[in-house]
Amino acid sequence: MAESATPLRTAMKTIIEPFRIKSVEPIRMTTRAEREAAVAKAGFNLFGLASRDVVIDLLTDSGTGAMSSEQWAAIMRGDESYAGAPSFARFEAAVRETTGLPHVIPTHQGRAAEHLLFPAVAQPGQIVPNNTHFDTTRANIELAGAIARDLPCAASRDMQSLAPFKGDVDLSALERCLDEHRGDVPLVMVTITNNAGGGQPVSLANLRGVRALCDRFEVPLFLDACRFAETAYLVQQRERGERGRTIAAIARSMFDLADGCTMSAKKDGLANIGGFVACRDSELADELRTRLVVTEGFPTYGGLAGRDLDAIAQGLREVVEQDYQEYRHASIRYVVERLADRGVPVLLPAGGHAIFLDAERFLPHLGWREYPGQALAIELYVSGGLRACEIGSVMLGRIDAKTGEELRASHELVRLAIPRRTYTQSHMDYVIEVVEEVWNRRGAIPGVRIVEAPRVLRHFRARFARLPAAKAGTKPASAKKAKKPAAGRAKGRA
Ligand code: F0G
Repeated sequence: MAESATPLRTAMKTIIEPFRIKSVEPIRMTTRAEREAAVAKAGFNLFGLASRDVVIDLLTDSGTGAMSSEQWAAIMRGDESYAGAPSFARFEAAVRETTGLPHVIPTHQGRAAEHLLFPAVAQPGQIVPNNTHFDTTRANIELAGAIARDLPCAASRDMQSLAPFKGDVDLSALERCLDEHRGDVPLVMVTITNNAGGGQPVSLANLRGVRALCDRFEVPLFLDACRFAETAYLVQQRERGERGRTIAAIARSMFDLADGCTMSAKKDGLANIGGFVACRDSELADELRTRLVVTEGFPTYGGLAGRDLDAIAQGLREVVEQDYQEYRHASIRYVVERLADRGVPVLLPAGGHAIFLDAERFLPHLGWREYPGQALAIELYVSGGLRACEIGSVMLGRIDAKTGEELRASHELVRLAIPRRTYTQSHMDYVIEVVEEVWNRRGAIPGVRIVEAPRVLRHFRARFARLPAAKAGTKPASAKKAKKPAAGRAKGRA
C-alpha cells in the first residue's frame, strides 16, 4: 500500500485532528430549562432557533466549516476588480486542476449552478435521471418544466446493508429509462456522495457503467460534485484496486468520465460560500456565461467576491489531503460505530459527511403521522443542545394533488451533519452521550403534530406541537441490535 494511503498515519489509536487551533469561537452553554423554552418559542422547529441557543450545530455541513490559515491568507490576496481579477485566474486554475474540465463558471452556491444549468439544457417534459436528486436539484429541474427521476441501487433502501457503495445508480433502471425516453433526456446526473440517499458513495465502476450507457444513448453525464473528495476517499478505501492511488487522482478519474459538473464549494470547497458549473462543451459554456451575467454577475466573479474565489481555490487543494480525509472519516465512523454498538439504529455503513439515525426504529411507538424524526430531533436539542435535521415525512412528505391526502416519505431519518474542521473529537464524544441519553428514555418520547405549515418546503418554517407524552413506563418495542460494521475497512480506528 502506498504510504499516502495508510490510515491515520501516526499509527496510534486516538483520533486526532490534523490541525492546531489558531482562533476560537465560544460555545454558549445552556441549561435544559433554557432549551425547553427556546424550542417551544421556535414552534418546535429547530430552523427557528437562534444559533446562540445551540451547543453543537449539526444542522448542515454546508458553509459551516472552518477555513485554514492558508485560506485566510488567500482571502487577503483577493482582488476585487469587476473584470479580469487574478483571483478568478487562480480559481479557474484550481477547478481545472481538480476536474480537468476546461470551462469554469463561478456561481454564488450550488443551487445557483443548478439554476443556471437546467433551464439552459432541459426542455419541459424531459427526464433527468440521478441516483438521488438533492432537493434543490429537483426543484431547479422542475422549475425548468422537466422531470427529476431518482434511480438509486437496491442496496440504498436497506439501512443495515453494509454494501460499500450504496450511492450507486441502478444501471438496469437507467438503461430502461434512457431507452424509454430516447431523445428526451438532456443529461444524466450522478450525485457524489448521494446526500439525500444517506451520504453514501458511488463507485468508480458504477460511474463507468453510467458513462457507457450515456455513450450508447448519446446523452451527456454531469456530476453533482459537492462532496467529490469524500467520495474519492471512500473509493480509495473500499474499491478494489484503488488503495494505492491518491484522493486527487481518484477524483480526477471520476471527473474524466463526466462532461461537466455542478458544485457547491460550501462542502468540499472548504469555503463558507461559492459554487460553479464546469463543462467540456464550449457552446454550452458560452450559453451559461450569457445567462450568468443576468443573474449572478460577470463571468470572472459570478456572484462571489474575489476573496471568496481565492478561498475556494485554496480549499479545493486542501480537501484532497490524505490526513484531512482520514481524520474526517475516522471521526464520523467513531460515532456511528459507538452508537451501533449500543443498539442505536443508525444508518450503516458510515458515510462521508453525516450520521443518520433511523427515527422509525428509534421511536417504534410513534406512527409516521406523529413525525418520529421531528420528535427525535427535538429531544436531541432539549437533551444536550444538538441541532440536527429531520429528513423524513416533514421534509419529504407530499400532498397528493388529486386526493389532497398526505403521503409519507420512504424513511424517517435524523441527520447529524458534521461541519468540516469545526468540532473536535471530544465534541463527538459529547454527541454520543446526548444520543445515548435520549435512547435510554425513548419509550416516553412524545410525537408531534403540525400546527401550521407553508405550502412548499414546509420543514423550514412549519410550527409543531408536542402530543401528550407516551404513558410512563411504556416499554419501547425492543429495537433490534444493529449489525456491527464488518471488520476491516469499516472499522472505527486504524
Ligand atoms: N447538491 C447536493 C448534493 C447538496 O447536498 C446541496 C446542498 C446542493 C446540491 C445545493 O448546494 O446549498 O450550495 O446551494 N446541501 C446542503 C445540505 C444545503 O445541508 O445538505 P447549495
